[in-house]
Amino acid sequence: MTVELHVNVDHVATVRNARGSRYPDPVHAAVYCERAGAHGITVHLREDRRHIRDRDVEVLRETVSGRLNLEMAATDEMLAIALRVKPDLVTLVPEKREERTTEGGLDVAGQLKALTAYVGKLREGGIPTSLFIDPDAAQVKASAAAGAAAIELHTGDYANAPDLATRRKELERLAAAADLSSAEHPELVVAAGHGLTERNVVDLVRLVTPLEELNIGHALVADAVISGLEEAVLRFRAAIDDGESRR
Ligand code: PXP
Repeated sequence: MTVELHVNVDHVATVRNARGSRYPDPVHAAVYCERAGAHGITVHLREDRRHIRDRDVEVLRETVSGRLNLEMAATDEMLAIALRVKPDLVTLVPEKREERTTEGGLDVAGQLKALTAYVGKLREGGIPTSLFIDPDAAQVKASAAAGAAAIELHTGDYANAPDLATRRKELERLAAAADLSSAEHPELVVAAGHGLTERNVVDLVRLVTPLEELNIGHALVADAVISGLEEAVLRFRAAIDDGESRR
C-alpha cells in the first residue's frame, strides 16, 4: 500500500498575498505538485483568509485532478462554502484567529453532538469528513461515533519534540492511536499531518503502519523555495544577459 502524499499549498498563497500580486498562484503550484505525483491538494480556508482565498478553492475545484481536501473550521460560513464548492474531502480543524497555525487537534469527544450533526450535513451534501485530532484513544473513538470517514492524527507534538525520549513517546502515541483506529474502526482512513519534514516523516511512516495518507505543507513549500533558487537565479541571469545582448 502506498502512503499517499497530499500537498498543502497554503504557503504559496502566503507569498502571493505578501505582495498583493497574482503570483505565485496556489493553483499553479497544485498543477506542479500533481504532475510530480502528489495524490491530492490540501488547502485551509481560514476565517481571516490570511493565505487561501475563496477564489483559490473555487479554481482548485476546477483544476485539481486528484483529491481536493478543504481544511476548515466547523462554522456555518464554511459549511455553506463546502456545500457549494464540493471538495472531495473536508477536514475539520480547530481555529483560533490569533494562532500562527493550527494548534492542537479538535476536541471531538467534547463536542460530539454538534460535530455529529455537522458531519451529517456534509455527508448529506455528498462530502466525506476527516477530523483532525490529537493521537488519543478517546478522540479516535469519538471520531468514529461522529460518523467521520477519516481521522488525521496531529503530528505537531512529534515534530516539535525537544528531545529523543519525547520524540519516541510521541511516535508511540501516534502508533497506538492509529492501531486502535484500524483495529476497532477499520472504516476510518488514517491520515496524519502537521510539522512534517523530509527528515521526520521517515520514522513516522516506518513505525505508524496503519497510516494511509499524509498532509504536508510548510516544510515542502520551504524546500521548494530553497531548492528552486539556483534555477531561478540562472534564468534571471539569462534574461538580463539577453536584454544586454540586444542593446
Ligand atoms: N494538516 C492539518 C489539519 C493542518 O491544519 C496543517 C496546516 O495547515 C497541515 C496538515 C500541514 O501542516 P504543515 O504545513 O506543518 O506541513
